[in-house]
Amino acid sequence: MDFVSKVTVLNTLLALIVLLSAEPVVSLKHRKWGRGKKLASGGNGDLVTDLPGQPAVGFRHYAGYVTVNETNGRALFYWFYESTTEADGKPLVLWLNGGPGCSSVGYGATQEIGPFIVDSNGLKYNNYSWNTKANMLFLESPIGVGFSYSNTTSDYSNLGDDFTANDTYVFLHKWFLKFPSYRKRTFYIAGESYAGKYVPELAELIMINDKNMDPSLRINLTGILLGNPETSDAEDWRGLVDYAWSHAVISDETQKLIRESCDFHSNDTWSNISCSNGVDEVLKQYKEIDIYSLYTSVCTGNNISAGNSDDKSMQVMMKRTSMMMPRIMGGYDPCLDDYAKKFYNRPDVQKALHVSDGRQLKNWSICNTKIFEEWSYSKPSVLPIYKNLITAGLRIWVYSGDTDGRVPVLSTRYSLSSLGLPITKAWRPWYHQKEVSGWFQEYEGLTFATFRGAGHAVPCFKPSNSLAFFSAFLLGDAPPSER
Ligand SMILES: *[C@@H]1O[C@H](CO)[C@@H](O)[C@H](O)[C@H]1NC(C)=O
Ligand SMILES: *[C@@H]1O[C@H](CO)[C@@H](O)[C@H](O)[C@H]1NC(C)=O
Ligand SMILES: *[C@@H]1O[C@H](CO)[C@@H](O)[C@H](O)[C@H]1NC(C)=O
Ligand SMILES: *[C@@H]1O[C@H](CO)[C@@H](O)[C@H](O)[C@H]1NC(C)=O
Ligand SMILES: *[C@@H]1O[C@H](CO)[C@@H](O)[C@H](O)[C@H]1NC(C)=O
Ligand SMILES: *[C@@H]1O[C@H](CO)[C@@H](O)[C@H](O)[C@H]1NC(C)=O
Ligand SMILES: *[C@@H]1O[C@H](CO)[C@@H](O)[C@H](O)[C@H]1NC(C)=O
Ligand SMILES: *[C@@H]1O[C@H](CO)[C@@H](O)[C@H](O)[C@H]1NC(C)=O
Ligand SMILES: *[C@@H]1O[C@H](CO)[C@@H](O)[C@H](O)[C@H]1NC(C)=O
Repeated sequence: MDFVSKVTVLNTLLALIVLLSAEPVVSLKHRKWGRGKKLASGGNGDLVTDLPGQPAVGFRHYAGYVTVNETNGRALFYWFYESTTEADGKPLVLWLNGGPGCSSVGYGATQEIGPFIVDSNGLKYNNYSWNTKANMLFLESPIGVGFSYSNTTSDYSNLGDDFTANDTYVFLHKWFLKFPSYRKRTFYIAGESYAGKYVPELAELIMINDKNMDPSLRINLTGILLGNPETSDAEDWRGLVDYAWSHAVISDETQKLIRESCDFHSNDTWSNISCSNGVDEVLKQYKEIDIYSLYTSVCTGNNISAGNSDDKSMQVMMKRTSMMMPRIMGGYDPCLDDYAKKFYNRPDVQKALHVSDGRQLKNWSICNTKIFEEWSYSKPSVLPIYKNLITAGLRIWVYSGDTDGRVPVLSTRYSLSSLGLPITKAWRPWYHQKEVSGWFQEYEGLTFATFRGAGHAVPCFKPSNSLAFFSAFLLGDAPPSER
């Protein structure tokens, strides 16, 4: 089977013409958010002014759609928070969650690193929001995720890594038309889980496509930041199994069976029955606990007012074809997920975020399982892309919460070690508030760090440490290696 044949070919030239011919938009709406602020720097009416239950803040934020394909009617939803202080001098960071099919608004913005966390009481201000250090852009990508959509049903059957990268690339250039003052800003892409694939893929696409562009329109991509990232399917699987074994989730016998019968580099791994049975046993044990956070309790669902349990079935979900590694959807805390679902389906919330008129509502969910199941193309490994990005001189930092079983620290170490990068500074602890926050190692072109005692979505577990680490990344300075 040929993946590419399933995928509609995009006419780059046409896309660029549409993209570049659009009029730059300079906002005439000088509505202010907070006191003593200067005029809005763009946004074309996307300024959010009346988000229900929002804590009072001194920064502006914008939400709405950007059309990425007019012919088919594809539009991606974004939520953008200017930095809490001196937004003009701070970099721009795009944050992406994974799945594929999960929402960066539902996870990243409102459970991890955004300024407003959704919990049982509505919105709560997050002191450790990453917009204290940078201007933060959250994107629901691709179409079908969260509020993002297409008016052409057949688009949904083409979704895959390349499709996503293409639309996200168009999104960025169109977003800069709405926010022209951010175009020349130092730009970073960050993300976790399946975004481990999206982020390098998008970075590479920007480098390739922008080369042929008028220099004044180029994106100033400076680095990427990846958390518990899916990187190379073969290494990720080997790491998942070895981690389960070394953390007493599976028996010696199961690990031995898998070691002897699974060839994760093969395109036909699961046709070996012994291998399939062994991996089934790993997943069976993981269903008993939270694979995303080994040592915390699972959400039983008893306390959930929304009464929704559909998202929970995602905790471990597999799809097997001979062509693709089985995949487990990325995501965390199903308890919190239900609060987000309730919140984003409120008419007043959708109206405030410029998603609907408050009557014809959009149906928001944190992950779209159909997208996950029908994903038509996943790059088996992005390590070759890492090499290109390193050669191009991008800053690449990879971090890993060390209690995650989904994309465990071992998977990341196996992946990175297969790059064979020279070590420039040896393994040592890094500190936060006088405690060992994790360990790190610097390679030529890449920095790798662990977070001690953090699960899959690291900032949920270690908000203060994560913010300090993010800050070090932006500065390009190693995290503190002294107490
Ligand atoms: C819009 O999307 C369709 C399907 O993906 C593609 O064939 C077409 O070239 C796109 N149009 C533009 C202008 O990018
Ligand atoms: C999708 O269709 C709706 C209804 O016709 C329209 O209002 C909307 O603008 C379309 N979206 C895009 C991105 O073209
Ligand atoms: C957040 O900051 C406010 C004001 O500085 C403080 O009152 C509050 O206790 C902080 N909350 C947390 C969880 O640290
Ligand atoms: C992505 O865009 C490139 C051109 O930039 C095109 O060749 C390719 O077919 C597109 N892929 C998808 C899945 O749309
Ligand atoms: C891009 O960002 C880098 C790093 O912040 C900066 O040194 C450089 O001047 C910027 N380039 C442009 C063209 O703005
Ligand atoms: C599975 O792999 C093992 C080790 O390579 C091999 O001995 C066994 O015959 C394989 N089983 C099947 C059903 O292919
Ligand atoms: C799987 O790999 C084998 C050899 O490595 C190759 O001959 C075969 O075409 C591949 N199958 C698919 C479906 O890609
Ligand atoms: C769920 O309810 C039980 C009993 O009412 C309570 O002890 C527990 O803290 C609640 N858990 C959550 C996550 O709210
Ligand atoms: C929203 O989507 C869910 C499935 O994700 C479905 O069960 C529900 O009926 C939909 N609601 C509406 C109003 O379309």
